[in-house]
Amino acid sequence: MQKKEIVARFLEADLLVHPAVVAYISENGGSGIIEGIINSISSSVSVVTPKEVPGMLATRIDKLAVGASVLPEILAGGDDFSVPMANPEESFALFRNRYDVLSVMMRSRVNPIPIEALIKQNNWFADTDIGVIGIVVGGSTSSKGHRIVEIEDPTGTIKVLFNKNREGFDEAEKIIPDEVIGVRGKLARDMSGGSGMIFSNTLFRPEIPLTHALSPSKEPGMAVLISDMHVGSDTFLLDAWDEFALWLETKPDIKYLLIAGDVVDGIGVYPNQDKELHIKTIYEQYDAVGEMLSTLPSHLQIVLSPGNHDAVRAAEPQPVLPEKFRNQFPSNVTFVENPAVVNIQSVNILMYHGRSIDDLIKFIPGTSYDRPGEIMEEMLKRRHLGPIYGQRTPLLSTPRDHLVIRDVPDILHTGHVHITGIVSYRGVLGVNTGTWQGQTSFQKQMNINPTPAEAIVVDLFTMGYEKLCFLGDKTFL
Ligand SMILES: [Fe+2]
Repeated sequence: MQKKEIVARFLEADLLVHPAVVAYISENGGSGIIEGIINSISSSVSVVTPKEVPGMLATRIDKLAVGASVLPEILAGGDDFSVPMANPEESFALFRNRYDVLSVMMRSRVNPIPIEALIKQNNWFADTDIGVIGIVVGGSTSSKGHRIVEIEDPTGTIKVLFNKNREGFDEAEKIIPDEVIGVRGKLARDMSGGSGMIFSNTLFRPEIPLTHALSPSKEPGMAVLISDMHVGSDTFLLDAWDEFALWLETKPDIKYLLIAGDVVDGIGVYPNQDKELHIKTIYEQYDAVGEMLSTLPSHLQIVLSPGNHDAVRAAEPQPVLPEKFRNQFPSNVTFVENPAVVNIQSVNILMYHGRSIDDLIKFIPGTSYDRPGEIMEEMLKRRHLGPIYGQRTPLLSTPRDHLVIRDVPDILHTGHVHITGIVSYRGVLGVNTGTWQGQTSFQKQMNINPTPAEAIVVDLFTMGYEKLCFLGDKTFL
């Protein structure tokens, strides 16, 4: 049977048809299969994809002759990469590790003196220009509007005053709990034998070096970045996803699909969630994701990290998705932790779901859910994905702080807020991907307007990018 005839018969029945389905029917018979599909299909389906055709998923029809993509290399965040501290009472080790790694990044610029020395030898250092590096343990605003921040290094704590009339005060206002900062300023003379105070002249952050430049792949190749599919939710945009899947079939240059968490809506993530679920069990939600990914071109290398709706430990770093949920997933999926660093074609991509964005927006003045790109910039400046302890982002006690951005990535890929945002900061491309879920009742209440069904395509060879939207007229399941 001719492919044109197959497409025409489905169109008569008001159905669009996936190219892989057309190929399958043309090779395996003809009108009998078509009539069987049309008669059995649910009235909510408008595009016939391989999952509507019994037996087709197993055969993995993929006719794109493009050869296998190079496997992604996991640089950080593979199986069992992050291990909880054996003794939870040693949780300080996490912060000590954070301090050690981030202070090295500022040492040559700040030329720090141990805080203990500044306090004990106040007479010696008073009124001179000194440097310190510390982790922020407290902060307040003085009656005159100056910012006072308490910082701690392994030897002691000291207060630092940021004068509101000095240049750069806006950056001092963005100092958040538990970040590591450097300061150069004058040590105040202390006659009372107290813990002293520094009047800051300059604030330092670990930062991305100014000399850092874009580092594209030497080979041609494209990657698509998405997140927050929320399969199982009754607001999951199935039609839009099917459009995306169809489009991928036509793009053999796209070799990688990166998914930064929340592939399912999950179970019991928020009160009364079951009333908003189309798929009620977690296993069935993951099976649905696995089947959806199975219909995508098999030459794609898919990298999947979890988010706060996934069925793994909530505390970050989150482990890889357990095998018991992977039954229906194809073999071209690489499972990584959240966060993780993967190398594809020599481009390093730091994937992080982005739960900390909630906390960063709360603490950094001027930031907003509408502009997640700016939050990624704040992460990069601090070389940390989510420093604040004890807020909405649960942090696991580990000997090594896995949320420190140790090596500068080429791409930082986050999600979580369901709003697309792209930023380019000192040679790092920051991509916060949107969602495949429509606006939920909670988001309506919170006045959050998601940007659904958008995928970001990055050309690894040029590091250029394009935002594509797959939202059609018929969107909701
Ligand atoms: Fe999400």
